[in-house]
Amino acid sequence: MHNTVKISKDLYWVGVGDRRLPRFENIFPLTSGVNYNSYLITDEKTCLLDTVDPDVSEQFIDNIQHILGDRPLDYLVINHMEPDHCGSIERVAQLYPDVKLVGNTKTFMFLEQFYEADLSANYVVVRDGDEISLGSRTLRFLLAPLVHWPEVMNTYDVENKILFSADAFGNFGVLNGNLYADEVDFHKDWLDEARRYYINIVGRHGRNVQNLFKKLRAIEIDMICSLHGHIYRTKEDVELMMNKYDLWSSYTPEKEGVILVYSTMYGNTELVMNLIASKLAQKGVRDIVMYDVSNTDFSYIISKLHEHSHAIFGIQNYNTTLYPKMDALVRELLHTNYQNRKVGLVCNSSWGGKALPEMQAYLQSGKNLVEIVEPLNIMSALKPDQEALVDQFVEDFLANK
Ligand SMILES: Cc1cc2nc3c(=O)[nH]c(=O)nc-3n(C[C@H](O)[C@H](O)[C@H](O)COP(=O)(O)O)c2cc1C
Ligand SMILES: [Fe+2]
Ligand SMILES: [Fe+2]
Repeated sequence: MHNTVKISKDLYWVGVGDRRLPRFENIFPLTSGVNYNSYLITDEKTCLLDTVDPDVSEQFIDNIQHILGDRPLDYLVINHMEPDHCGSIERVAQLYPDVKLVGNTKTFMFLEQFYEADLSANYVVVRDGDEISLGSRTLRFLLAPLVHWPEVMNTYDVENKILFSADAFGNFGVLNGNLYADEVDFHKDWLDEARRYYINIVGRHGRNVQNLFKKLRAIEIDMICSLHGHIYRTKEDVELMMNKYDLWSSYTPEKEGVILVYSTMYGNTELVMNLIASKLAQKGVRDIVMYDVSNTDFSYIISKLHEHSHAIFGIQNYNTTLYPKMDALVRELLHTNYQNRKVGLVCNSSWGGKALPEMQAYLQSGKNLVEIVEPLNIMSALKPDQEALVDQFVEDFLANK
């Protein structure tokens, strides 16, 4: 049985959601799965834009067959060759053996690496800016290398000003019937996940996203159809996402605020971090965010670190080095190109080690990660007569912010 949505004349959503998927890319935890979006145009020529994960291909094939009926499938545009989107290409090609596969040279290189069927007779190789006509619609291809993978491209429906954006502007979470961002409370219920998706999946490639933006600024966009998450079709939603992506990809903090991230075994570092948070709050700082690296998946913490302008890390020595979970978090954070942030450090030791210089070396290896206050060193546990040290730390942090 099919489950499709008509978006406009000749344009259908034929995607599938998978609520059972526990982790995206087998690494990022999902609380309500993920959508694999796919779009089908039934102009004079028919054209499918991307496919879906092989786990949900049965539903997908039902969807396509329902919309196409007796019509052939003329084109399949491959905007992205990651298996969650290209995993049903062979199925589609079996059903529609004459389908023309539209991609760039890298698309077909990956297609041949991943799959066994020889589909080379069906290739239509496009370059940046090339167009094909479907009748009333013209599709223009905009190469978007590394807006996740090297072969990624976006497809622009010139007449209808629709951007098929591949992974860009995507999200975690299966859609609950409401296909459009304006049908849900996007800010309240979906924006945090959109950020977690972007920062962890594409965040490292900010420069490439900025390169794509140069192309997008030259066209008008009335609707964004991503491969995951909602469709953005109102001026406000398109602008919201363009603005967020501009901030995220230029590593500009979204908000002026403090996030505290710490590791702790016995709670002594945690207590100091709680004290710092209380004192910051008493001095007027609002919306403080705190995470224990052992209790929250890194993808959430990293996303929130990118959101905020200021961070305080609470670390400790563990077998003379940085506590392994903190070490792993910071490595992963730097891998997302975390930069342009102001930082304070709290370090707990009982007999010493390299945790603090290791952490400082990590920060120095990043771009524009500035320690704005002298590190606060604790020996095992804070004593009441040392509270003034915490007050001084907070005062200096705020004075230098
Ligand atoms: C397995 C283990 C290894 C440790 N290694 C070191 C070390 O090499 N150097 C040091 O100064 N403290 C070391 N410590 C002590 C901790 O840094 C110290 O207990 C600190 O107070 C822990 O903070 P917490 O109470 O927030 O967990 C170690 C503790 C544990 C449990
Ligand atoms: Fe991808
Ligand atoms: Fe994807």
